[in-house]
Amino acid sequence: MTLELRIRRGSASDLPSLEPLWVAVHHRHVESMPQLAPYVDDATTWANRAMLYRELLEKSGTVLVLAEVGRTRVGYGLAHILALEDTWIADTWVTGRQIGEIESVSVLPDYRNAGIGTRLLDRLEQDLADAGISDLILGALPGNAAAIRIYERRGFQSTWLYMSRFAGRPGPVDP
Ligand SMILES: CC(C)(COP(=O)(O)OP(=O)(O)OC[C@H]1O[C@@H](n2cnc3c(N)ncnc32)[C@H](O)[C@@H]1OP(=O)(O)O)[C@@H](O)C(=O)NCCC(=O)NCCS
Repeated sequence: MTLELRIRRGSASDLPSLEPLWVAVHHRHVESMPQLAPYVDDATTWANRAMLYRELLEKSGTVLVLAEVGRTRVGYGLAHILALEDTWIADTWVTGRQIGEIESVSVLPDYRNAGIGTRLLDRLEQDLADAGISDLILGALPGNAAAIRIYERRGFQSTWLYMSRFAGRPGPVDP
């Protein structure tokens, strides 16, 4: 029997169930850029992420979407709306007055490469469009090639590059 995929809206009460799904994102980050170690442990990453999600879910316009196969929660996506003046965009680009940020998308490893991530992004973008948002941002680790491929296919392009120099990581690259 093949169980059907269901994409539906979630709420703050779904937060605890997102822990393994967010930890899967963290693991992807660790694997994709091992040179940036040390990384925080699973409990720390979730404690911080859960705090952020709790705040975002209290704002109006935040969208949480869940992907379920049968009774198993296999993925989620979360997006929220920012006032243009609260972003780094306002002093550089001409956009609308509100910016949608795709904060997270995750699919459990056993369920990847079957179109679920694309369905989650479709739903997030549709819900933001329904709210009148047509300017979108998202962030990704530069080593996370699989995620970046999906975003670029949807028309996202690199606009702002953060660089960091954390203590204890590899030093300058020889010219
Ligand atoms: C990024 C992520 C959410 C994508 O989810 P996903 O469900 O695997 O995404 P999709 O299945 O829609 O697309 C993945 C690939 O499968 C392909 N695909 C989609 N449906 C398919 C199908 N039925 N048969 C074969 N391939 C398929 C897509 O074309 C895509 O190909 P690509 O690797 O060449 O780009 C998932 O890899 C993930 O959770 N990664 C870890 C967390 C993460 O990195 N999150 C993003 C942080 S910025």
